[in-house]
This record gives sequence, C-alpha cells and structure tokens, in this order.
Amino acid sequence: MTVCVVGSGGREHALARLLARSSDVVVTPGNPGMPAEVSGHRIAVTSAPPEEVEAELTVIGPEAPLVDGLADRLRARGMAVVGPGADGARLEGSKAFMKDALAEAGVATARYGVFDEIDGAIRFLGSLPGPFVVKTDGLAAGKGVLVAETREEAEADVIAKLSGRAFGGAGRRVVIEEGLIGFECSIQALCDGARAFPLAAARDFKRVFDGDRGANTGGMGGYSPPPEVDDDLVDRVMDEAVAPIVATLRRRGIDYRGVLYAGIMVTSDGPVVLEYNVRFGDPEAQVVLPRLADDPVDLLMAVATGRLLDRPRFSPDAAVCVVAAAAGYPEAPVAGDEILGLGADGQLAEPVDGVTVLHAGTTRDADGAFRVHGGRVLGLTALAPTLSAARERAYEAANRVTWPGRHLRGDIGLEPTAVLR
Ligand code: AMP
Ligand code: GLY
Repeated sequence: MTVCVVGSGGREHALARLLARSSDVVVTPGNPGMPAEVSGHRIAVTSAPPEEVEAELTVIGPEAPLVDGLADRLRARGMAVVGPGADGARLEGSKAFMKDALAEAGVATARYGVFDEIDGAIRFLGSLPGPFVVKTDGLAAGKGVLVAETREEAEADVIAKLSGRAFGGAGRRVVIEEGLIGFECSIQALCDGARAFPLAAARDFKRVFDGDRGANTGGMGGYSPPPEVDDDLVDRVMDEAVAPIVATLRRRGIDYRGVLYAGIMVTSDGPVVLEYNVRFGDPEAQVVLPRLADDPVDLLMAVATGRLLDRPRFSPDAAVCVVAAAAGYPEAPVAGDEILGLGADGQLAEPVDGVTVLHAGTTRDADGAFRVHGGRVLGLTALAPTLSAARERAYEAANRVTWPGRHLRGDIGLEPTAVLR
C-alpha cells in the first residue's frame, strides 16, 4: 500500500517516518532529506501534484492547501483523505470565524474584538486591562501574533497591521484579545467527522530566544508529554474545548475529518482556547507521532473513512525536538551554507541513540551536500525513557550538525518560564 503525504517540512518528515512503519510513502513536494528505507518500506518524494499521486490514503500536512480546498478536490475524486475541507479549515484560516464558532459552541476563550479600522481597535484596547494580544485575521505562518505588555506597543502594532505595512493583506483585519496568564499546552485530536480522540499532549516553544523572548516563530522546538498535563486535564480539554466544537461544526453541516489541534492556556480558572489549527502542529507532530503505539496507517485510515473507534495509544517514552534554524531566522533567514555533520542519507554522520534528523528547510547539491534552504532547517528529534534523557540526546545531536550562524534555543524541554509569570 502507498500513503501520500502533502507538504515539505519537519512535520511531514515525521509523518513520513511514522507511516513508513507499515506502508510505502510518497511525499509531495517533500524535501531532499526525506527519501529513505525505513522498516522495509520506502519513502520517496515527487514533484507531482497530490491529485496525481497514486495512493490509498492522503494526509495533508500544512494549513494553506486545506484552506484552499485541496481535501475537497481529492475527496471529489474518491480519495481517502486526512484533513478537513475548506469549510472546516476556516477554523484556522480565519480567526474571526474561529471566535464565532467558539462562541456558538460555548468554549472558553479570551475576551476579543475583530477590527478593520484603526479607531475602533484603539478604543477596544482602551477597555482591556492588559497584557494585550494583537493577531492578524488571515494566515501568517504563526508569526502574526503580538503579545504586548503596554497599550502603546499594542497600538503601534495595530496601526502597522491594519495599514497593510506588516503582513500585507493578512493583517488588514485584526483580532485583539485580552492576554491570558497560565501555562500553555497543545492538544491534538483525531476527528472522523463525528468522534474525536486525543493524541498525547505536547508543548511547543514559539519564541525565537531562550526564556520565551523575541519574535514569534513557526516553532523552535517541542516536547511530549509535558509532565503537568495529566490525563484528567486532557479529558477536560476534550470535553470542554474539542467535543463542543466538533458538534458545532456538524450542526453547520461540516464533516470534519482530520486533526483538530487546540492551543490551550491553562489558567487558574481552567483551560482556555488560544487557537485551533486544522492539522498536526509543527513541531508537535515531531514529538507526538514517534510515541504512537498503534498502527499509523490503520489509525489515519479510520479518520479518513469515519471509523475511528478508540483512543490512540502511546509509548511511555518522552520525545524532544530541537529545531536548528538559519542565521537571521525569523526576520531574514540566511540560505546557502553547507550543513556539516550529515551523512549521505541526511541523518547524523555520527548517530546518537534514539535520534532522528527531521529535515525542514534543506536543499541538496548535485554532489550530495545538504545546504541551508529555509528558516527552520533541521529538527533533531530524540526518544528516550525520560524527558531529561531525551533532551540530552536531542542537544547532543544538535551539536553534531553545524553551519555559520546556526541558531538553537538552549531551553527546549525545560519548564517554560516566561509564560508562568
Ligand atoms: P496563536 O497563533 O493564536 O496561537 O498565538 C501564538 C502565541 O501567542 C500563543 O502560543 C501564545 O503564546 C500567545 N498568545 C496568543 N493569544 C494569547 C492570549 N490571549 N493571551 C496570552 N498569550 C496569547
Ligand atoms: N506549533 C504550532 C503550530 O503548529 O501552529
């Protein structure tokens, strides 16, 4: 059997490695670090569009093709697909749609307003106690969110976004929120249109520098499971934040088959939804999927065909993913340098036990050398019996790959500090 994975980043590399446990995998467009033989199955990449890849199952990685209706187009051809149609994908494609669905479902979320013009936005900021959060309404690859301590900083950001100066069209409508205080976690659920079951919990590190300082990025690393997220908390998130939204979507005639990711702030009053994503998280997929104890193809086929029966099982191991990013990421990533420390298969030339190198932003020369291509270049992903052992392995691996200006955070897998305040 063949499974097609759509996308080209670290999340899709993690999906391909997982699915190759029990099937051949074709990734479109993929990246040059992906081709491999894993447990007797082949991972190949192709430039053919997803419509033309012959596969029994297609898993769509990124949000943009989902928002664009790729799942609908594939289903119209009779294909089995993991990923919602354009209707369900609006949950991520439009923050205003998401907030409206949340209100209808009665899910707890931050106080907010949606604005197209500066005056109303500034007035609303004046009514909030702070901290203040300003988000682009459109997609901005995880980078369109500002959390500001002062009203002046929030006002300047509102003006930059609404004028189109920052983020172009995606910023011409903004969502302003009250800032919430607590600890964050990512709960990803598999949903077959009617039922939803949680995957293991994870945490990502969105800011570029240690201690959660600096710009928001696509994600500098992650780990699973976060020790303070127990089964009761996961069940509470499912009952309060996932099941009601699936029911609301169904009432609106939306048959949601795919991953529903809830970004949660656990406040002193309980879990509050910060955002939904309509796909696996990146880098959450990299730390959750390697821990899956069930057959991945059976599980995702059940999602695609509406036959999801049980809660997926996970190994007790911990996983840590440390992202090695290009110099200058996220503002101005520098591409082109050769990556030292990788073998011909794209894995570590000197392997570390339990570590897989997940490629996200690499290219490959004719002579086989890997080069820096995108902002997040590699994800060094380690599995081990404890979180601290996984963290040690991931950093040992990270120290074996290098290029000029390579940037890592040093605190991936440690308790988040800044968000606890
Ligand atoms: P989002 O893309 O909406 O998940 O926001 C990105 C990050 O901004 C989140 O992971 C949080 O760290 C932070 N954030 C978003 N909304 C809020 C909020 N209402 N209060 C505090 N922090 C927030
Ligand atoms: N890690 C957050 C995201 O995938 O959006």
